[in-house]
Amino acid sequence: TLSPIDRAKFAAAHRAAAMVEPGMKVGLGTGSTAAWLVQCLGERQRDEGLRFTAVPTSARTADLAREAGIEVGDLGTARWLDLTIDGADQIDREMNLIKGGGGAHLMEKIVATASDRMVVIADASKEVETLGAFPLPVEVIPFGWQVTRMLIEETLVGLDVLGRETTLRMAGDAPYRTDQGNHIVDLHLKRIGDPRQLGLVLNQIPGVVENGLFTDICDATVIGHSDGRVRVRQ
Ligand code: A5P
Repeated sequence: TLSPIDRAKFAAAHRAAAMVEPGMKVGLGTGSTAAWLVQCLGERQRDEGLRFTAVPTSARTADLAREAGIEVGDLGTARWLDLTIDGADQIDREMNLIKGGGGAHLMEKIVATASDRMVVIADASKEVETLGAFPLPVEVIPFGWQVTRMLIEETLVGLDVLGRETTLRMAGDAPYRTDQGNHIVDLHLKRIGDPRQLGLVLNQIPGVVENGLFTDICDATVIGHSDGRVRVRQ
């Protein structure tokens, strides 16, 4: 039996999986909600013989897809995708997102940007008035990351945020490594007044590879509830 939160994630994933049509090229997101999506798509492939090209956004999702019997393609060959379905850590009313809680936001942003449509699947707890209570992940190059982090903190002065604490994400005793071999600095901003401006400013800093703010990328949200209800917003 599933926990209430998993029932909500499953409901959203199941609805979004139905948006995949035969022959589509589809980006597969990363995280626990996206894992349900992979499972649902694996079932559709088995039960209906649905054929589609899958481009995963992480090594983790690639493994899950293969386990579900889904053949895994790559972005370089697919070039352009019809649809990407992914989870998120926070979603505001304008469909701006914080992503990267799972450390995959760089590949997720590349894949989502290379898609005609991005659909976000989530349980209702991810919807917020203002982004920022969830720490904003910033992927940084390991070389001189201490300096990059300092520059990030300096950049935050004068921006419309409430907190300015930053932490290097760890995996046990060592700094966390993304699929691309980089580190992640999490920004504890509490409240992000202007996500678009912050995203642009962060990406100007040498050593920053990509931040977890997705603005003007998400086209629709599919929000699941634990009783199985789903709300689709375009
Ligand atoms: C991965 O890097 C993130 O962007 C995920 O999309 C996000 O953390 C959502 O994960 P859950 O579905 O597990 O909450």
